[in-house]
Amino acid sequence: MVKPEASPIFYSIVYFLLRFVLLAYSVPQTALITQIPGFSGTLPSKHYSGYVTIDESHGKKLFYYFVESEGNPLKDPVVLWLNGGPGCSSFDGFVYEHGPFNFEAANQSDDLPKLHLNPYSWSKVSNIIYLDSPAGVGLSYSKNETDYITGDVKTALDSHIFLLRWFELYPEYLSNPFFISGESYAGVYVPTLAYEVVKGIDTGVKPILNFKGYLVGNGVTDEKFDGNALVPFAHGMGLISDDLFEEVSNACKGNFYQPLSENCESKLAKVDADISGLNIYDILEPCYYDTDTREVTDIKIRLPSSFLQLGETDRPLPVRKRMLGRAWPFRAPVREGIVPTWPQLLNSRSVPCTDDEVATSWLNSAAVRKAIHADEESVAGTWELCTGRISFRHDAGSMIQYHKNLTLGGYRALIFSGDHDMCVPYTGSEAWTRSMGYKIVDEWRPWTSNGQVAGYTQGYENNLTFLTIKGAGHTVPEYKPREALDFYSRFLAGKPM
Ligand SMILES: *[C@@H]1O[C@H](CO)[C@@H](O)[C@H](O)[C@H]1NC(C)=O
Ligand SMILES: *[C@@H]1O[C@H](CO)[C@@H](O)[C@H](O)[C@H]1NC(C)=O
Ligand SMILES: *[C@@H]1O[C@H](CO)[C@@H](O)[C@H](O)[C@H]1NC(C)=O
Ligand SMILES: *[C@@H]1O[C@H](CO)[C@@H](O)[C@H](O)[C@H]1NC(C)=O
Repeated sequence: MVKPEASPIFYSIVYFLLRFVLLAYSVPQTALITQIPGFSGTLPSKHYSGYVTIDESHGKKLFYYFVESEGNPLKDPVVLWLNGGPGCSSFDGFVYEHGPFNFEAANQSDDLPKLHLNPYSWSKVSNIIYLDSPAGVGLSYSKNETDYITGDVKTALDSHIFLLRWFELYPEYLSNPFFISGESYAGVYVPTLAYEVVKGIDTGVKPILNFKGYLVGNGVTDEKFDGNALVPFAHGMGLISDDLFEEVSNACKGNFYQPLSENCESKLAKVDADISGLNIYDILEPCYYDTDTREVTDIKIRLPSSFLQLGETDRPLPVRKRMLGRAWPFRAPVREGIVPTWPQLLNSRSVPCTDDEVATSWLNSAAVRKAIHADEESVAGTWELCTGRISFRHDAGSMIQYHKNLTLGGYRALIFSGDHDMCVPYTGSEAWTRSMGYKIVDEWRPWTSNGQVAGYTQGYENNLTFLTIKGAGHTVPEYKPREALDFYSRFLAGKPM
């Protein structure tokens, strides 16, 4: 009898089959969300959530919430979403901007909000990962609090480790196109993380091979461009007079971000006075005044004296009254060095006005935390929209060099701006994209959504696109959900705007 000898081919077939079986069942079933408190319907796609450990010895863990695409999860792009701050949770995007649900506030304060499906969820066309970053923010934490002293560079490295480990947990998504997106201070997170991903690809060590590009909304980019954006914005929007614009331009010689003379300083103070009653996140929205908000205007760095009131949007539910935390106080552009978080600026844990309640009550409910596999409040801490727990250093410099490297490397970039945001005004983003000296391949023109002009766009060579969203504030999908889903879908699909 001939002893059956297994050939190498046999082994490779077994290996192949085994690998196939492993891959097919490798999504972590413990991360699957089976029910969501507040939501009584059927989920249109699978949701997963949990922690990825970044540093075992420190117990440093980052929390993610992953929504599978409602289209074709195996083919549609995987997109990472990051909110900014620094210190703000990406549940901001999940709850208030483009997440799968619209949250209806409870009638009684002890009750949970009611969740309705969001017809403009970005999960209609993509798999999307909401990541709380860095550790200390949202539901992410570390057992060693030295990790809460951090900055741009560390945050990008940690988020890169997160991605590598996340794709190990979900390997079937490695072949989908991959994009990184975010808004406001994530204007720093997105390009710095993208750069780490590309370095990993270039060196062949840490491949996320299907990385295609990135999106940044009303993003912090460069202290000079961001700092110079406000005055021309205020003039163009009719918030300051021609005379004052002329005076301030002459006095500051085009340098508004770093006033060099007292004359310039005093003219800028006049600009501030003219616009101080406006809502910084959307100049079209009314202000919300109360005794608390008056108190906080006394602190050193000028804070917006205004807060959002209910706005007109396509959303069936109102937008927030208060938006502290997602952005930057007036005339305080992000500079190198320590960037105070909002609670640190306010010198208190409680933020004035009483909104953001739906997110806070939902994410601190024991039932919700259990359902989404978050550690208990006693371990991970109370969820706050924006935390003062971390100390954050802006140490990556201007983002323009990153955008150059990425776009020249063949990665696609969409830089979009709600054109009524006065916090990171579109004038700054328009100016820095133009300053890169790329040839214009699609001249400034309106783009449309639902048969209406939805904003303007300018396309550059190297797949760099600048886009405005007409009438949107700082958090574009919160104000213009339909238009946001439109441009998002077109960008991911590589279609013209
Ligand atoms: C609040 O009460 C109204 C009227 O009874 C009801 O229609 C609505 O669903 C309630 N909202 C929530 C979140 O329970
Ligand atoms: C926290 O981390 C720092 C830096 O790695 C280390 O020096 C310190 O011993 C750690 N503390 C604890 C309690 O493990
Ligand atoms: C971008 O940076 C990476 C990593 O440093 C480098 O390998 C690559 O050559 C750069 N690409 C361009 C187009 O500058
Ligand atoms: C722009 O993107 C398209 C679609 O992804 C790609 O085919 C093309 O090569 C890119 N162009 C450049 C200049 O990178």
